[in-house]
Amino acid sequence: MGEACSPGPSGAASPSSGLRRLSSDFRVPFPAPARGRDRMLPKRRRAQVGAPGDPASSEARFPGVAIYLAEPHMGRSRRAFLTRLALSKGFRVLDAYSSEVTHVVMEQTSAEEASHWQEHRAATASPQRCSRPALLDISWFTESMAAGQPVPVECRHRLEVAAPRKGLPCPARMLPYACQRPTPLTHHNSSLSEALEMLAEAAGFEGSEGRFLSFRRAAAVLKALPSPVTALSQLQGLPHFGEHSRRVVQELLEQGVCEEVERVRLSERYQTMKLFMGIFGVGVKTADRWYREGLRTLDSLQEQPQRLTQQQKAGLQHYRDLSTPVQRPDAEALLQLVKAAVAPILPGATVTLAGGFRRGKLQGHDVDLLLSHPQEGREAGLLPKVMQCLEKQGLVLYQQHHRGGCGHAEPPPRQSHPMDAFERTFCILGLPQPSGVPVGSTQGPCPTRKAVRVDLVAVPISRLPFALLGWTGSKHFQRELRRFCRKERGLWLNSCGLFDPEQKMLFHAASEEDIFRHLGLEYLPPEQRNA
Ligand code: UTP
Ligand code: MN
Repeated sequence: MGEACSPGPSGAASPSSGLRRLSSDFRVPFPAPARGRDRMLPKRRRAQVGAPGDPASSEARFPGVAIYLAEPHMGRSRRAFLTRLALSKGFRVLDAYSSEVTHVVMEQTSAEEASHWQEHRAATASPQRCSRPALLDISWFTESMAAGQPVPVECRHRLEVAAPRKGLPCPARMLPYACQRPTPLTHHNSSLSEALEMLAEAAGFEGSEGRFLSFRRAAAVLKALPSPVTALSQLQGLPHFGEHSRRVVQELLEQGVCEEVERVRLSERYQTMKLFMGIFGVGVKTADRWYREGLRTLDSLQEQPQRLTQQQKAGLQHYRDLSTPVQRPDAEALLQLVKAAVAPILPGATVTLAGGFRRGKLQGHDVDLLLSHPQEGREAGLLPKVMQCLEKQGLVLYQQHHRGGCGHAEPPPRQSHPMDAFERTFCILGLPQPSGVPVGSTQGPCPTRKAVRVDLVAVPISRLPFALLGWTGSKHFQRELRRFCRKERGLWLNSCGLFDPEQKMLFHAASEEDIFRHLGLEYLPPEQRNA
């Protein structure tokens, strides 16, 4: 006890060793002036981080405490970050598990898993002490860091196996971020989650970001539950359930309907915003402006074409088709049409169906297709040629091309903008329908077409795993994943890549699995990302 913290040979206690230990092929250096790595850190950070040989960092202020950060779900860069943090506050952190450890800290680990881990360690560690270290959740660590000293260990900090309670979801297992838990397409609480999602949507229409997120997160928790909620008490201990969401669920459980939900659903405001935002090219701001100007119907918009963008005109023109869900066979047919157009233009190129259909949905509001080629850079300029080919076949009803800005050495922007900067074409394609299907068709032998929104995105192969992850959604899953990266890992993620702002490095990933692994998250296949 009380001996100075000496990082072992692998040096996990040194500031950047956790990052350095990552295999070098996993990281692509971001161009920076040829100076020492520490020089890339902002001044503030440099001051906090003690060098391994620095006496200030090696003298522990709390000799009775020796922390071991157990890694099963922590990820190495996260562990290195937490180690630096604790050292900078004068805590002693041991790189290897030994009999000296007094506090074992784990993250995203269930009590069962933690005790299993401890059994295994106890069997392998040398038996120098009779008492076992405390097995603690990260909450003890973060509270101690905030307090600048070890806080007393309380029950709520401990990872202890409790007897399983029948019929109730175990709150310890409901992790707070949607990207930490599987969410299947069909679940057990759709009427409750739909009500909360509607309130979220309505809050979004009013620009209330906070309320939007609260309702949306509560809805996402319900979607991840293994069984139906039948009593309010079952919400006990679930994350993101504030007073308001609980009240809505209570009313639904007790009365079958929630007065607030019904009032909002039937309100002129909600109905009109829904109507306007159903137009391709119309977002909250535009819909809100039109509403405040007194507009209420599509006809009133048709009468003022000068106020509409080309995109909105196309959206209005095809409103009926575009507000009818795209069925999976139609999405498959479009995938084949695009594949057939791509093949002769760029042999070897790949086309992948992303979006909700990749998550297993049977219908959607559009079709998201990612185009790539095994050779980096060959995808450049592909989209205009593909569109030309589709145009020749008379399939294109509207198109809008965006040049990409997702350069090869650029970090993703800090704020993950919903529009990622790949080269892309947002279009409306006229999908030929089997003759005789459309009711009221007057077009005779000419095949009828259903207008479908299609997004084509050209992705360099090195970014494909990130693009696939981002464009597969769901939107809420991606929002949560990006928030998790920012808050828990200090990394910035978007569809272009994963960036470490401290080390100024872009991560290389060969697959979506690689990205989850690097973030210390359990891999979730697309069908489990329906948050
Ligand atoms: P969608 O809006 O198409 O959602 O975006 P979806 O899940 O496929 O739902 P439906 O079935 O069409 O209604 C799919 C994913 O692509 C991302 C979104 O954030 C979402 O995660 N996306 C969309 C981008 O990354 N950039 C964009 O410009 C548009
Ligand atoms: Mn989609």
